[in-house]
Amino acid sequence: MTVLFPPPVQPVHPVALVVFDWEGTLVPLPRPGEPARPVPGAEALLTELAALGVTLAVATGKSRRGLDEQLAAFGWQSRFALTRCAGEGPPKPDPAVLHEICEALGLAPAQAVMVGDTRYDLQMASGAGARAVGILGGLDAAEALAQAGAAAVLAEMSLLGEWLIPQVPRALEGLPPGRHWRAVCPINAVPEQPEGLRFVWHRLRGPDRRIRQPEPAFLVRHRGGLRAYLNRCAHAPVELDWPEGRFFDESGLYLVCATHGAMYRAEDGSCAGGPCHGRNLVTLEVREGAGQVWVAFENGSP
Ligand code: FES
Repeated sequence: MTVLFPPPVQPVHPVALVVFDWEGTLVPLPRPGEPARPVPGAEALLTELAALGVTLAVATGKSRRGLDEQLAAFGWQSRFALTRCAGEGPPKPDPAVLHEICEALGLAPAQAVMVGDTRYDLQMASGAGARAVGILGGLDAAEALAQAGAAAVLAEMSLLGEWLIPQVPRALEGLPPGRHWRAVCPINAVPEQPEGLRFVWHRLRGPDRRIRQPEPAFLVRHRGGLRAYLNRCAHAPVELDWPEGRFFDESGLYLVCATHGAMYRAEDGSCAGGPCHGRNLVTLEVREGAGQVWVAFENGSP
């Protein structure tokens, strides 16, 4: 691997989100008369990162129309969980857009890596508390990218995977692709019955998933495993627990709605009696790994 400056560093936080600049990074700077195409290695890298469960996003100074046209031309419309273009937030190097992307995806900036070809990309990452990788080929030289806070400066995009993938937590490997996984809490933070752990799940909707709709959700332990559900009774749209955090009945087999007593089987959220009348709790996909509880919170979720 050709790492120009400085050498790879040991990860402080595992990588769960990679935010790419567009022109000069994923796509060569435009040349008159030449059709736009991804830089060599970009397609394979995006595929590999997605297969590992890494969330992908774009933060670019390109116009929305121009980006959407190229995403469509490459068949990349569903590659990225979020894209942000010129005019959709303060320009780089202001970190606001990167903050917004992390918040919308439920990830901390420390879990994010920004990949770009200019000092502004890297300064935006530094300002947001994310790591940054510089790719040569744009206007800035290696020294300028390093001075702007790059954790590494790479000669070309095809080298990024070798630097990045060892920093992806093993917990993400093997998670079903096509979803975006969020570390909700450490595994040992989920209490024993009859308690559960409340958390906020995010439904992303609207154009380009820009509207983030928080939904109450909870985790419970049941027969040695974890289950995650939206905290919404199937009888009426109210939260189940009262007092807050108490979900189980005395038997430890059922989750009970405190309002009118609907009972749900803890293993799958199916109605076991009461006014839920055959309607079930909404289940969320949950996995354990690397000491964390991971919940799928976008594609494939209800
Ligand atoms: S609102 Fe839950 S049982 Fe009626």
